[in-house]
Amino acid sequence: MATAQHDGLLQKAQRLEEQALRELKALSNAQLCEEFRVKYLGRKGQLAQLLDELKTLPPERRAEAGRALNALKETLTTELERRLDSFAHAEREARLRAEALDITLPGRRQKLGSLHLITQVTKELEDIFVRLGFEVVTGPEVETDYYNFEALNIPKDHPARDDWDSFYLDGFEDLLLRTHTSPAQVRVMQQRRPPVKVVVPGKCFRRDATDATHSMVFHQIEMLWVDKGISFAHLKGTIFAFIEEFYGKGFEARFVGDYFPFTEPSLQVHVRRKGSELRTHHGGRWLEILGAGMVDPAVLQEVDYDPEEYTGFALGLGVERMAMLKYGVDDIRTFYQNDMRFLEAF
Ligand code: DAH
Repeated sequence: MATAQHDGLLQKAQRLEEQALRELKALSNAQLCEEFRVKYLGRKGQLAQLLDELKTLPPERRAEAGRALNALKETLTTELERRLDSFAHAEREARLRAEALDITLPGRRQKLGSLHLITQVTKELEDIFVRLGFEVVTGPEVETDYYNFEALNIPKDHPARDDWDSFYLDGFEDLLLRTHTSPAQVRVMQQRRPPVKVVVPGKCFRRDATDATHSMVFHQIEMLWVDKGISFAHLKGTIFAFIEEFYGKGFEARFVGDYFPFTEPSLQVHVRRKGSELRTHHGGRWLEILGAGMVDPAVLQEVDYDPEEYTGFALGLGVERMAMLKYGVDDIRTFYQNDMRFLEAF
């Protein structure tokens, strides 16, 4: 009887092992593993029930049966752990696969910005002037009334001030946004003795009404060449040289008399596309691109240059105007609207 019980317990253990191992193989996730653990290895699980039955065995059989059940517990625990490990491993593999970087994929390109057309044209002109022997210098955008007007032979109440409607700084009756780059002429001559041969690029500001060829903020390049024996021939030669260099052979230029307080004589230069006189009124238009002249003796005296010894010529060109003609831009306002299609075209 005792033996039969013993054998029965071992058989149950054997069946339990087979069934448990079969189930274990079929488990598909960690949650099911936990259910398996409770069912077989839990405090009220099937193995615990078999252990309970040990009490019913005669004492001399208990040890052997107990070892068998312990071995079974060991087996199921190990196999369950292995199964859990394999899930953890698979999960990690899946995560790594999902997170994997394909370093052979082409990178995403950052969009490169480009230089604004006005900047490009300024640089292009600067290059031409440097080749003609001029040095590039700069001056302040906020100027004093003295440099912007007085020193340029435009005293207070001079009617020519009407040509430069100005933005004065609130609370400073002497400070304004420069209306042209000409004040830099005076600053440079104060600091140097002749020969002076410079160009000054920069922003200018005028309280003008805005239209297709006028903007309240625009760019000029000032040119000044003062030395012994500088004549109108230098002015003419330099201007025609850089206009041809910048525009190529397809354009023509003309000089038109003008008046500026700081030059004598004074003139404007107009440029148009060659052959455009044959076109309609609008297409054949001359565009004024610069003002120029021989530096007035009063300006030279202001900086202690002897007008008997030194002469010079000066000019101020409109960068937007020059760009409009070369690149066929009809309206100056297009430069400042930041329309990407316009900006990217250049
Ligand atoms: N400063 C003038 C203007 O903005 C342009 C100009 C004319 C500059 C004659 C010069 C010059 O240097 O000689 O209207």
